[in-house]
Amino acid sequence: MEAYNKRILITGGAGFIGSHVVRRFLKRYPDYLIINVDKLTYAGNLENLKDIEKAPNYCFEKGDIVDAPVVDEIFTKYQITDVIHLAAESHVDRSIEGPLDFVMTNVVGTVNLLEAAKKSWIDSAHVFHHVSTDEVYGSLGDEGLFNESTPYDPRSPYSASKASSDHFVMAYFHTYDLPIKMSNCSNNYGSHHFPEKLIPLMIHNIQHNKPLPVYGKGDNIRDWLWVEDHASAIDTIFHQGRVGESYNVGGLNEWTNIKLVRFLCQIMDEKLGREKGESEKLITFVTDRAGHDKRYAIDASKLENELNWRPSLKFEEGLVQTVDWYLQNQDWVTKVTSGSYKEYYKKMYDNR
Ligand code: NAD
Ligand code: DAU
Repeated sequence: MEAYNKRILITGGAGFIGSHVVRRFLKRYPDYLIINVDKLTYAGNLENLKDIEKAPNYCFEKGDIVDAPVVDEIFTKYQITDVIHLAAESHVDRSIEGPLDFVMTNVVGTVNLLEAAKKSWIDSAHVFHHVSTDEVYGSLGDEGLFNESTPYDPRSPYSASKASSDHFVMAYFHTYDLPIKMSNCSNNYGSHHFPEKLIPLMIHNIQHNKPLPVYGKGDNIRDWLWVEDHASAIDTIFHQGRVGESYNVGGLNEWTNIKLVRFLCQIMDEKLGREKGESEKLITFVTDRAGHDKRYAIDASKLENELNWRPSLKFEEGLVQTVDWYLQNQDWVTKVTSGSYKEYYKKMYDNR
């Protein structure tokens, strides 16, 4: 194990963003040992990592970060030198139905990891990179962008749990000198995205001629970034970011939900050989999300100016690539949309 320059614990590596981060680090850094710890909840899927599971510098441990002895054991077993922490309950709608899982994983799980790092690391030659969200800043009006000094104002149980975890991470820096770095990113899209989230849910429903449930009037705004660009930002911040700092990540790419869903319908009409305008007929306006944040928009100039990071892919191209991935990976889609997904969908959308 000592042969590796770093032994990085990546939590939540079987999830959407985590799987992209694990793949990127394995390919770019053969001198690092990557240990992926994931509970494999409904959102975690080892199929996401099939192509790299036999990589010589990769280990998978099924484990729950809420279980402190499990976390401690992993730190000892692999002599963990660094952490990239992505494991979380991540879906706002589920947090409205049941906040406690969010408190446990996102808050208690994060504190368990911080404690294990504090106990194991005797000097500052380590990095604890906490991956967080722009939702901690709350909701914007028509003007302005979130920057790193925007006061925290979380409004959903999900964002409240992430805000709390961010505060614990910063507290461990100030109180115990734990070498932390943090990133707060806007909405991601791309392959392996679980179809409870807007883009993959809409792609799936358009394909199967099911209603497209747009919350409220569809005028809420999200700022979309390709998941690989988020992974490249994490790589950059992990290696070059300043200790004790947070960096906003985003691509100045704001879309109202309705405009985005219409654009997806256009792409899918072409891909599926449907008449122009055919899929748009499926759009159905449904009861709004409780406490629905109006607008998110990220100012990423700190990351761009200090660390020279830039997003690489235009949204319009990335969406076409994403649609292609879903259409070409029907086995993956079928597996994740059977069983408990059906119950979830019924509970959230029937009679909405
Ligand atoms: P996801 O829901 O797709 O994946 C989460 C992963 O964490 C899954 O593999 C799951 O099995 C694992 N996990 C959950 N609870 C766990 C536990 N108790 N112990 C161990 N593993 C556990 O989430 P995602 O969209 O990939 O998000 C990853 C991280 O990035 C989260 O921290 C999220 O808050 C943050 N983030 C997400 C977005 C986005 O647009 N998806 C944007 C900004 C930040
Ligand atoms: O901003 C970053 C956050 O983005 C991450 O921290 C979260 O983990 C991630 O889930 C995402 O949160 P959102 O709530 O913005 O994403 P979601 O895909 O759930 O919803 C995007 C928008 O689409 C939002 O305004 C609600 C709306 N929506 C969503 C679904 C699932 C609909 O109109 N219909 C739907 O069926």
